[in-house]
Amino acid sequence: MAEKLKVGTLISGGGTNLQAIIDACNQGRIDAQIVFTGSDVDGVKGLERAKKAGIDTFVVDYARIIADCRKARDIDSLLPKDFDLDVILGKQRLVDVEKNREKALFFIKSRVIAERQLLDNIESYDMDLLVLAGFMRVFTPYFIDRINTNASGHRIMNIHPALLPAFPGTDGYGETFRYGCKIGGCTVHFVDYGEDTGPIIGQKAFEIADGDTLEDIKSKGLQKEWELYPACIQKFAQSR
Ligand code: GAR
Repeated sequence: MAEKLKVGTLISGGGTNLQAIIDACNQGRIDAQIVFTGSDVDGVKGLERAKKAGIDTFVVDYARIIADCRKARDIDSLLPKDFDLDVILGKQRLVDVEKNREKALFFIKSRVIAERQLLDNIESYDMDLLVLAGFMRVFTPYFIDRINTNASGHRIMNIHPALLPAFPGTDGYGETFRYGCKIGGCTVHFVDYGEDTGPIIGQKAFEIADGDTLEDIKSKGLQKEWELYPACIQKFAQSR
């Protein structure tokens, strides 16, 4: 049997997708093993799930890092030595630098400072694929280029609670509900320099009945996510 795919995971919350991937690994349904779970928020249930499964965990507290950046007299002194603003600005598609340069630069620099800490944790592991399982932060090209280092290309996967390219952003099911959609769904895609714009790996759809509440939609959607994510990871494992 081929060597198992070594999967790093990042979460921000409850971690039900993480749990679905842990279960798929443990039950031998996918040729993968999770090598770590990182979170940008301390104390979340997903970290407990990882620990219970014997997986290494770490926290990079984005909220604290961003607050420290706001207080810093000179944010540039906190940036990693290999940070190159022109390179990042030339690639990123997250913020409109023309519209508000100061705000955009603060966003990019504070995220890079947090991303350096994530990388310091991640780089101590041997990892084939980074899986975002309800990780509610976007990545700058600084981070992406330091993960996608080999010629085989994309190595960061994300799950999104909508049928992309519809409803990118942070509230996919909410927007599906408020728009009055009759079909909802979820998407697994590779992460590129934009927000939820990378190549699509898989999608699953579900019907929305008259009278379904937002909670109904979330519940139907999550059921589909738990099937879709392990299947997409297995697809990646088999394509190596
Ligand atoms: C999931 O619905 C996932 O699609 C969504 O967060 C939820 C996490 O649930 N992700 C995003 O919105 C990413 N922008 P979980 O913590 O129970 O897996």
